[in-house]
Amino acid sequence: MARPVNLSDIPFVPSDTTHLSELEIGDPSLVVDLGSGDGKVLKWFRDNYPNAELIGYELDEGRATASQNELANTAQILNENMWDADLSEADVVYLYWMAHLMSGFYETFWNQLKAGAFVVSYQFAIPELTPIAQVEYFYIYQK
Ligand SMILES: C[S@@+](CC[C@H](N)C(=O)[O-])C[C@H]1O[C@@H](n2cnc3c(N)ncnc32)[C@H](O)[C@@H]1O
Repeated sequence: MARPVNLSDIPFVPSDTTHLSELEIGDPSLVVDLGSGDGKVLKWFRDNYPNAELIGYELDEGRATASQNELANTAQILNENMWDADLSEADVVYLYWMAHLMSGFYETFWNQLKAGAFVVSYQFAIPELTPIAQVEYFYIYQK
């Protein structure tokens, strides 16, 4: 069930991807960025996991269009509400949200994930879960 959309819930601020390479997240076939912004994180995955399918949900039409143009056929940017995402096939789900929304991720998506899937959350922990690792400002969870 989709949540009401309020773009001011999560302002656009790009992640610092400097330490992403230190994460142990296997060899993902499908990476989903919920709120993909300018595509910075997906570009990092494109460069580091060239065989992975990459999907971004981005509600802001301008950012969705611009990042789709930049990523061309290496990723699919959906100009859609991320709360409607189907994460059942995802191997890695990337989040850069806000503290007050993190329980919403757990309630809405955790049961959808397949066993072994990783969730990488930048800056904000998911209160209901214990991370398997914390690397710099990344919290890593595994289903
Ligand atoms: C903090 S930025 C993160 C961008 C990117 N994931 C990164 O880490 O560099 C969050 C993005 O989520 C988008 N967003 C917020 N609510 C959304 C929603 N309900 N569905 C899709 N995108 C959303 C915002 O427009 C913004 O671009």
